[in-house]
Amino acid sequence: MLPTKSHTTLQVPTSSALGPLTPEEADLFDRLDLTRLPRHVAVIMDGNGRWAQQRHLPRVAGHRSGTKSARITIETCARLKIEALTLYAFSVENWRRPKAEIDFLMQLLREYLRSEMPLLQKNDIRMRFLGRIHELPMGVQDDVQDAMQRTAGNRGMVLCVALNYGGRAEIVDAVNSILAEQNGHATITEETLARHMYTDGLLDPDLLIRTSGEMRVSNFLLWQIAYAEIFVTETLWPDFNRACLLDAFVEFQKRERRYGGIPDGRPEAEEPARIVGD
Ligand code: FPP
Repeated sequence: MLPTKSHTTLQVPTSSALGPLTPEEADLFDRLDLTRLPRHVAVIMDGNGRWAQQRHLPRVAGHRSGTKSARITIETCARLKIEALTLYAFSVENWRRPKAEIDFLMQLLREYLRSEMPLLQKNDIRMRFLGRIHELPMGVQDDVQDAMQRTAGNRGMVLCVALNYGGRAEIVDAVNSILAEQNGHATITEETLARHMYTDGLLDPDLLIRTSGEMRVSNFLLWQIAYAEIFVTETLWPDFNRACLLDAFVEFQKRERRYGGIPDGRPEAEEPARIVGD
């Protein structure tokens, strides 16, 4: 007798998951197929400096305002039951910025982790950090550890914050970690490398969003975005609101997903998925 397969339950959100919607958001929401949302969304949050400059404000005001867009994006993705969201918060190249701006960004991140903890818990979000975390100031490392520990038991969306992150650095770190583990005798396959990346255990992003109009990948998730759809918007990060995010999802669904000729390379659910509302 064949073993009984357990039913895979696809949790499909309803519009009520997002609370009240503006007419624009409601229109975008109605155009979405909620069974075909991206599963892992990666975001290059760009344009904070230009946003501030346009308002004759210091650059750091743009970063502070950018935390509101981060909050909206995190909460919306969690409520739409997106499996993972990765935000590019600080790159290995960002150490070249003026010291005062770096200090501000580190302080902002620490404040952010503290002030957003209730939101993360309420939405059952588990935190991970991608990058050379051990090179960050000790206070930041402590807060990062604390945020991971406090959210370790959550089972909803995984929120990855890329901090002191570089795509090339990640590949170098993965290769070094394989060599250390296998004493120099490793046969490296794509699977071996994937298991040693910072993103081990996560699906690759299927959607990469970049704000502020630049058409670059900027050393972000070089390995993982091999098959991602890329959505670039002119909107500066502090202006990126819920309608912008829903618009990116609508655009994502217009594209035909093909992996080497196979439409939509997502792993199939074992059994027909049962669709449940919120
Ligand atoms: C790029 O803007 C943005 C960053 C360096 C990342 C900072 C992001 C935030 C502060 C958002 C908050 C996120 C978290 C998770 C705390 P830019 O300075 O490069 O802008 P520009 O290209 O216009 O100069």
